[in-house]
Amino acid sequence: MVRKLLRIGAILTVVVALLVGAAAGVLWVLGPPTHEGYDPGDFEVVGEGDPIVGRRLVELMCVRCHFDPESDALAGRSLGREYNALGRPHASNITRDEIRGIGEWTDAELAMLFRSGVHPRRKELLPPYMPSLPNVSDVDLAHIVAFLRSDHGWVAPHRKADPPSALKYSAVLSAWFEWQPGRDHSVPVLRPDEAEPIALGAYLANDLLQCHGCHSAALDEVDWLVPADTKGFYEGGAVLVDLAQHKVVAPGLTQRAEGGLAGWSYEEFRRALVDGAGKDGAVLRWPMPRYRGLSEGELSALYAYFKTLPAAAEAPARKAPYKVVPQIVDPGRHEFERLGCPSCHDPDAKDYRSLEGITETYPDDASLAAYISDPRSVDANAWMPAYDNLVDEAQMKALLEYVRRRVERGPYAPPPKE
Ligand code: HEC
Ligand code: HEC
Ligand code: HEC
Repeated sequence: MVRKLLRIGAILTVVVALLVGAAAGVLWVLGPPTHEGYDPGDFEVVGEGDPIVGRRLVELMCVRCHFDPESDALAGRSLGREYNALGRPHASNITRDEIRGIGEWTDAELAMLFRSGVHPRRKELLPPYMPSLPNVSDVDLAHIVAFLRSDHGWVAPHRKADPPSALKYSAVLSAWFEWQPGRDHSVPVLRPDEAEPIALGAYLANDLLQCHGCHSAALDEVDWLVPADTKGFYEGGAVLVDLAQHKVVAPGLTQRAEGGLAGWSYEEFRRALVDGAGKDGAVLRWPMPRYRGLSEGELSALYAYFKTLPAAAEAPARKAPYKVVPQIVDPGRHEFERLGCPSCHDPDAKDYRSLEGITETYPDDASLAAYISDPRSVDANAWMPAYDNLVDEAQMKALLEYVRRRVERGPYAPPPKE
């Protein structure tokens, strides 16, 4: 009797295991679910956008993922290990090219992708490595779309194909059982005005610029529709990766003294966002964006909003992504590392990141200094951040010497003797 029961138990266990295995296998083969109920016909771009305002928004919101330095345009790039928890995403070519880009997309298709997160053609909900904008205001959405249709160099057609994004199995499961599309139809969304600074700040931080997407607990547990439901909302701790694949931990932005913004003056906050320097003067490294395009009213609204966030109970330990060589050992390399240049310029890379081309492009120090101070003043389509407010003359001199030495003799060549 007991043996019989045991045998039945064993058979049942095997059957259940096979069924679970088969279901898992089927999901793996099927991939993420489609959302056939979403149709571009239910979405629209309301009103006429201004491509100049749109350019400012795209620079603040999209360039960090979609910019391809090889083509100097939004022709897409691999996000490397940045979103390891989800897979290996490739940010798409979003230039006006009709075949490889989004030149043929209608306004309604763009509105559907941004509002709901559902890809208008594949009908799949894009994983949170492509942020959706469910709560973006109608005016801001119209500005973004107007820019994507404009004749700016960043969206000029480039026929560069996108390798597919590879999704991890755990992310396929989340797509089936966890992730939900954003809004399913267009309802009017208004932009708060400057008379209500806290509401405007909350809109800018959570709905437009999505600071919580990086500054919360984890990149794969972000809620775009109800931002405050994000795990560890503004408590920090998400592990990000820079362009050279160093790990960078995002700090918290609640009113905490350690690992937060308690005690920050408006000037300090403004400097962090606009010039990229922290409270202690240390340079903030990629992927913290530079928000040069924000107006004074928008910056002070953001400051007012962050003042309302209660202190988090804990803050993640901050760890520098790479060591900074002491100034007395090597003043030039010290500047390069202090300024965060290694976040993007990896000597092992074969492209612009190695800086190999500079001997030809910038033969004299004045032109090289002009580029580093403000790349946009030399190349209108450049995306590299400006350093004019972070280096003085002596520091720039040391930096230029090192940049040239690095290209000629390698990153660890000793500095010249005095
Ligand atoms: C954190 C990185 C990231 C940011 C920021 C980002 N994107 Fe994306 N985007 C992606 C990735 C990755 C994909 C590809 C997703 C896929 O196909 O699996 C994508 C896909 C797209 C697509 C679909 C293109 C196609 O041909 O399928 C469009 C359009 C798009 N993004 C526009 C934008 C715009 C406009 C912004 C700024 C408002 C933006 N993205 C911000 C990462 C990003
Ligand atoms: C793409 C990810 C990302 C986004 C988006 C982002 N940040 Fe950051 N931020 C970072 C990282 C990473 C750091 C830390 C950089 C370092 O340690 O060098 C940082 C640092 C900061 C700091 C300095 C904090 C300190 O303790 O020194 C402030 C302030 C800040 N961010 C504010 C914001 C605000 C406000 C927004 C939205 C308008 C925002 N960030 C959007 C990644 C991001
Ligand atoms: C956020 C990423 C990032 C950071 C940080 C960064 N750069 Fe760049 N840099 C780029 C990109 C991208 C390019 C290619 C041109 C472009 O599109 O902006 C570039 C180009 C350059 C060039 C011109 C290369 C050429 O072949 O024309 C120089 C010189 C340079 N960077 C120096 C520096 C120095 C010095 C620092 C630190 C003070 C620095 N960069 C920090 C992204 C970055």
